[in-house]
Amino acid sequence: MIGNVKLGSRVLLAPMAGVSDRAYRELCVKFGAGYCVSEMVSSKALSFNSKKSEELMDISEYERPCGIQIFGDDPECMAQAAEHAMLNHPDIIDINMGCPAPKISSNGSGSALMRDPQLCGEIVRAVVKSCDVPVTVKIRKGWDDENVNAVEVAKICEQAGASAVTVHGRTRMQYYKPPVDYDIIRKVKRAVSIPVIANGDIDSAEKAKQVLEQTECDLIMVGRATLGNPWLFSQINTYIDDPDTELVFPTFEEKLDVMIEHIEAMVNYKGEHMALLQARKLVVGYFKGIRGAASLRNEAGRISTLEDLYALKEKALTVSSAC
Ligand SMILES: Cc1cc2nc3c(=O)[nH]c(=O)nc-3n(C[C@H](O)[C@H](O)[C@H](O)COP(=O)(O)O)c2cc1C
Repeated sequence: MIGNVKLGSRVLLAPMAGVSDRAYRELCVKFGAGYCVSEMVSSKALSFNSKKSEELMDISEYERPCGIQIFGDDPECMAQAAEHAMLNHPDIIDINMGCPAPKISSNGSGSALMRDPQLCGEIVRAVVKSCDVPVTVKIRKGWDDENVNAVEVAKICEQAGASAVTVHGRTRMQYYKPPVDYDIIRKVKRAVSIPVIANGDIDSAEKAKQVLEQTECDLIMVGRATLGNPWLFSQINTYIDDPDTELVFPTFEEKLDVMIEHIEAMVNYKGEHMALLQARKLVVGYFKGIRGAASLRNEAGRISTLEDLYALKEKALTVSSAC
């Protein structure tokens, strides 16, 4: 449970800009994701009624429970953004306090908020007041190694009314590469009484179980490892229930079928042009691990119609069977 919201399982899909759109979230729910969050939505852009931001907040009944994530640095603007987001009936409002991208953090938003814990509290308080669903925050370990303050920020957010906190166990300066510090996540878990969601580098069922044990968290969130591999959700769910049950791994052909399903759904929701532009980055995930993937990746960078995608699938089958 997060507040009064019951989750479908203990494995949640991480918000990923450019990836976790409605089509991807629905796919992940089908494979056992217990909860999904939208791509981050700018509170400022919402105040200008940006059409693109509106589209990011489109959620369907199938993917419930689903959250909408907002970012910004001004409590009032964030409160208004949450009110605005509520028109789409999210189950949860999530606040981004972890994005390391310079275009976000140089404006004082995302991970930069962690440099001002009092402001984090003010934002959470304002957002909690403005909406009647649970409000959660997604933080990092801290800004850099000299400023590790995940415990302090999590406690302030809890006091301000947050219903859960997700911790990505890296500092902002570490971006996405160095090893994740799971001990800091455990420290946060021990310091607050709201649910803590462990995040970072979970890429197998075994790793998921290890992270749950090491962090003492009840919930985990996975992002990059699900790309081209939504099976990870069902594998983790199965393994957590009973580590002796044999895990199901897809054949390459099954992967390609799901790739088509994924991109066709994107086309359905945002039109062929936009969907195929975004799909160029997404389809390579489905080729991971097979021989001949390099030539497929090149080809993937050029697809612009569904016909191109179908042809790429056929080529992938040929390449993989020839290797
Ligand atoms: C392409 C991409 C986009 C991301 N976009 C967001 C975002 O919109 N909001 C957010 O809170 N985190 C975002 N993240 C961070 C992820 O939610 C997650 O914290 C991070 O990838 C670590 O988890 P992982 O190792 O399971 O991928 C993004 C990460 C990636 C790789």
